[in-house]
Amino acid sequence: MHEGSGRSHPGTTLVTGAAGGLGRSVAVGLAARGCSVAMVDIDGKALAEAAEACRESGVQVIEIITDLTTDDGASGAIRQSVEAFGHLDILVNNAGYGTVEAFTDMTAAAWDRTLALNVKALALGCAAAGQHMKERGSGRIINVTSPASRMALPNYTAYAASKAAVDAITRAGAIALAPFGVRVNSLAPGMMDTPMQRVTEAQLAALNGREDVDAFLAERTARVPIGRRVECDEVAKGVIWLALDAPSYITAERLNFSGGLDRD
Ligand SMILES: NC(=O)c1ccc[n+]([C@@H]2O[C@H](COP(=O)([O-])OP(=O)(O)OC[C@H]3O[C@@H](n4cnc5c(N)ncnc54)[C@H](O)[C@@H]3O)[C@@H](O)[C@H]2O)c1
Repeated sequence: MHEGSGRSHPGTTLVTGAAGGLGRSVAVGLAARGCSVAMVDIDGKALAEAAEACRESGVQVIEIITDLTTDDGASGAIRQSVEAFGHLDILVNNAGYGTVEAFTDMTAAAWDRTLALNVKALALGCAAAGQHMKERGSGRIINVTSPASRMALPNYTAYAASKAAVDAITRAGAIALAPFGVRVNSLAPGMMDTPMQRVTEAQLAALNGREDVDAFLAERTARVPIGRRVECDEVAKGVIWLALDAPSYITAERLNFSGGLDRD
């Protein structure tokens, strides 16, 4: 894939958090478009199952089981994928973590875990892939952010702040790498019923003293201006568009794929 060629071709890709949720949908979708996929996750068992789904498209798939929050987690994953494929065209920084805590009960442990994955690992992944792509003169990085980054969420502050950092890193990376043919954009998904979302909404219901969890979830869904939640496969189409199809003049952009959730 070469920026400026006006056409996109299947390429070599790396997706973090590829074992489940949105990351799995993105990996499967990229494979279906003919891309080689390096799938990175801490959950080796779920990753193996997701990798099988990608292999059904007949593409090269590698599984990288790692904790991205370790010092060499993100850069090591980039290195392994370059060794396997010869080069890397696309990085999708999707892995994320969030936990619910009331503002006045926030803990150091929750902040550390959230920032280590959502901010540090993502930034170091951008740096390592950016260096490689810069040398090649092409590449695309897509960071998964959240509507939360622009909302006041007193029970979800560490997560919201971490995603505001993702937005800052996306813009900085886009400017740093623009002269070298590398594009950096982000996508903000709406509410998807993934393992992470199920856990955090159960925590939110408990914090609000709500035992009628189904009614609580329905109220939250009703707050989405489009009036429904969104499937991972649907959001993955947006990520894949940024990765393979978006015009190369687009960089530093945030694609809102949230049904108007943050009302902006
Ligand atoms: N689910 C939503 O409603 C929603 C909304 C907006 C944004 N997002 C964002 O979308 C992205 C994907 O979220 P999801 O809902 O699919 O989450 P998920 O929890 O279902 O999947 C995240 C994946 O990341 C992996 N992971 C977690 N910690 C890791 C680590 N330290 N090292 C390597 N892998 C690790 C998990 O094993 C899992 O497979 C995240 O960045 C999330 O913040 C989700």
